[in-house]
Amino acid sequence: MKLNITVLPGDGIGPEVTREAVRVLRAVAEVYGHDFSFEEHLIGGAAIAETGSPLPPSTLDACLASDAVLLGAVGAPQFDGLAGEKRPEAGLLGLRSACGAFANLRPIVCYDATADSSPLKAEVVKGADVLIVRELLGGLYFGEPRAIQGEGATREAFNTMRYNEAEVERVARVAFEAAAARGGKLTSVDKANVLETSRLWREVVNRVAREYPQVRVEHMYVDACAMHLMLNPRRFEVILTENLFGDILSDEAAVLTGSLGMLASASVGGGTDVYEPVHGSAPDIAGAGLANPLGAIASAALLLRYSAKLEQEAADVEASIRAVLERGYRTADIQGRTGKYIVGTEEMGTLVAEALAELADMRHAYHAV
Ligand code: IPM
Ligand code: MG
Repeated sequence: MKLNITVLPGDGIGPEVTREAVRVLRAVAEVYGHDFSFEEHLIGGAAIAETGSPLPPSTLDACLASDAVLLGAVGAPQFDGLAGEKRPEAGLLGLRSACGAFANLRPIVCYDATADSSPLKAEVVKGADVLIVRELLGGLYFGEPRAIQGEGATREAFNTMRYNEAEVERVARVAFEAAAARGGKLTSVDKANVLETSRLWREVVNRVAREYPQVRVEHMYVDACAMHLMLNPRRFEVILTENLFGDILSDEAAVLTGSLGMLASASVGGGTDVYEPVHGSAPDIAGAGLANPLGAIASAALLLRYSAKLEQEAADVEASIRAVLERGYRTADIQGRTGKYIVGTEEMGTLVAEALAELADMRHAYHAV
């Protein structure tokens, strides 16, 4: 299979972790005989420094013309003082919006091998496997009007949380499909005791639910959800929620896996899908070779699954991540309490690529018998 992938390394640890994700994708191409091509472009702070814009037109054109986008991270402290639409983050939001990626899938997988890396008790997190479906193009992130205005004591700022029925419906469908495929439970998270947007959200979710009789739906307030995620994460299968709630809950859920560095995401629904780890640019450790590339590599697995429809390859990358963790390899952020081999970013990527080649060899040997 032929696949054109636009790579946007971005800022901070973005370049280091995407390099490892690309290494694993190259290994996949080689082992399974696919033809993947990679083209790098600028986004975020790196793009501002070079061109003045966080999302240069050449980057956007390349993304829209490609089969999938693999992104590292955006955000650079030297641009923190800029106005909202000029910041590195505006590049990412502009990209999501231009790609029409309205559904952000964030699988939270707790591996047995790293259960002791979580500050929560291993018996609480072991076996937890939650898919957060976050609405990505609405709510406070994009709602108009928004401004900082006025002067003196009456100077004020406001944002607008706004959803229409069609926006809720399309992301709800993605979540219902995922819940139906995974066994049938969907938790829709809102703040319907206070917010109109949440009341509309609930109504629409209940309406879509009628088309999926095999899915059990429950509604939960976001504050309660934040607590239950830590108390008993295994009670969740698929969580559907709006943009900002999903942003917050997914960082919280990372605690279950031991580190934000473990989480992958797929932003889908439009013309071009965007794959990126959930973590940020971590400027404090950028360039040091310490960053955990597993979130980026797991995002590459999602790219294989959703954009390339290469399920076997995607599952093999995930199995390779699992195998490397089971052999005791850890990056510094997931060392846990027991003695392990601590490796850097590049070594971790190489280990996963090697595990993948071994897996494929084993399969060949098995077929040859
Ligand atoms: C995420 C990030 C982004 C978001 C930032 C970098 C704009 O936190 O993908 O979760 O808030 O969506
Ligand atoms: Mg976030």
